[in-house]
Amino acid sequence: MLKLLMLAAVAALLLLSEEGMAARTRSRTKRELAGPLHITGIRDPFGSYCQRRGGCCPGRNDQCTVPYLDTICYCDLFCNRTVSDCCPDFWSHCLGTNPPYPPSSCERNGQRFHSGATYKENCNLCTCGQNGRWECEDHACLIEDDMIQEINRRGYGWRAANYSQFWGMTLDEGLRYRLGTQRPSRTIMNMNEMQMNMNGNDNLPSNFNAVTKWPGKIHEPLDQGNCNASWAFSTAAVASDRISIQSMGHMTPQLSPQNLISCDKRHQDGCAGGRIDGAWWYLRRRGVVTEECYPFSAAQQTPAEVARCMMQTRAVGRGKRQATAHCPNSHSYHNDVYQSTPPYRLSSNENEIRKEIMDNGPVQAIMEVHEDFFVYKSGIYRHADVSYHRPSQYRKHATHSVRITGWGEESDYTGRTHKYWIGANSWGKNWGEDGYFRIARGVNECEIEAFVIGVWGRVTMEDMHNHHHHHGRRK
Ligand SMILES: *[C@@H]1O[C@H](CO)[C@@H](O)[C@H](O)[C@H]1NC(C)=O
Ligand SMILES: *[C@@H]1O[C@H](CO)[C@@H](O)[C@H](O)[C@H]1NC(C)=O
Ligand SMILES: *[C@@H]1O[C@H](CO)[C@@H](O)[C@H](O)[C@H]1NC(C)=O
Repeated sequence: MLKLLMLAAVAALLLLSEEGMAARTRSRTKRELAGPLHITGIRDPFGSYCQRRGGCCPGRNDQCTVPYLDTICYCDLFCNRTVSDCCPDFWSHCLGTNPPYPPSSCERNGQRFHSGATYKENCNLCTCGQNGRWECEDHACLIEDDMIQEINRRGYGWRAANYSQFWGMTLDEGLRYRLGTQRPSRTIMNMNEMQMNMNGNDNLPSNFNAVTKWPGKIHEPLDQGNCNASWAFSTAAVASDRISIQSMGHMTPQLSPQNLISCDKRHQDGCAGGRIDGAWWYLRRRGVVTEECYPFSAAQQTPAEVARCMMQTRAVGRGKRQATAHCPNSHSYHNDVYQSTPPYRLSSNENEIRKEIMDNGPVQAIMEVHEDFFVYKSGIYRHADVSYHRPSQYRKHATHSVRITGWGEESDYTGRTHKYWIGANSWGKNWGEDGYFRIARGVNECEIEAFVIGVWGRVTMEDMHNHHHHHGRRK
């Protein structure tokens, strides 16, 4: 015990003598050579130095110092007359005057910051200016708190919520990185619509969900992250469901969007956007493997890595193709290639779209995404122009593509019926209603009924037989 105390005392002495040495080396000569603190930059103008020291010294007193960051500063009157190595609070504490440098610092949450300091206010960077005021950028953010509150207060029939994955992004970034489907060209938009023989709409139920009709065959919404490639996600999702339904569950592949993103290069830009007609061309002529075989990794990759195609196929007759490369995922050996037939365009008629979904499975649709859609949480979405009074930078839209998996109707408290589509998005399962959303039906809301696509998987009896065994063996 005593020994310990003595050790501590020795240590304290050592520390003291070291401090004395340091003070001696910081002599007056150094003081005169050093640049004035207030010119090289006072980094702590509000700190307590002379005050903490317990006072100021008259005239010149080389011992009248206080540690200041990695050097020392003075609290004697001399410092003002010569090179001004005065402590930051010298003027206010010792002279009772304002310091000779401008108060270029800004206040935030009771703390002081220097000019040039920055912080991020949602999506906008704020910088402490020379005038002592924060200057913030003026971008529209993807998540605007007052928009969320306004939507929830006014009751548009849907609820809005904050999403941490969108927080801090600008609206422009959201539109540029979270969508990614080029609006079909006029020629494609004018593509013939399939003629359907409808006998009225007598046998169309008021509610229908593909997930209920085909359990285990409808794939869960994926998350495209900040990869601007809904063109690949919606196409792969619709093809996955259609192949599973058509093969009666003998094959239930979740097709790989990454395979399309990295390998479908004809007029396509991977995570910088693409076209759904091009995606369907690729699915038909080249085919893609499963998500398990070729997992989505664009979120963690550089554009050059994303652009490297890791899957190759070759023709094996009658248009069928076979993989000639191993899966990019070394844990997966199942590099079966899945293909589709040519896609077909449906009319914009609500009942024809319903019939198609009920008979053949989910369809693909383009959709104009407006600023408010990002904060959708639940309910029946209708574009709510809550930002109508704000500058145009707050009111923007761009083209997206989604999968429609069903429909329904719901009465509100006034007894009015609201019809909706069920859409599957590609923003992960924590967005919306478990990754899905409902949107007003029959009014071409956000152009959801303007360009609707159906497709057949390329499924032969042989495929069904083979895959059946395949699964059998794995068990
Ligand atoms: C301190 O320096 C300022 C600026 O050079 C001068 O105006 C002021 O008179 C000085 N004060 C003292 C007490 O020397
Ligand atoms: C939204 O979420 C982010 C991250 O989770 C959080 O920092 C932010 O304060 C939230 N914004 C609002 C308006 O609630
Ligand atoms: C996202 O995709 C769309 C549609 O292809 C394209 O117009 C846009 O430029 C893309 N944005 C970025 C940042 O690549």
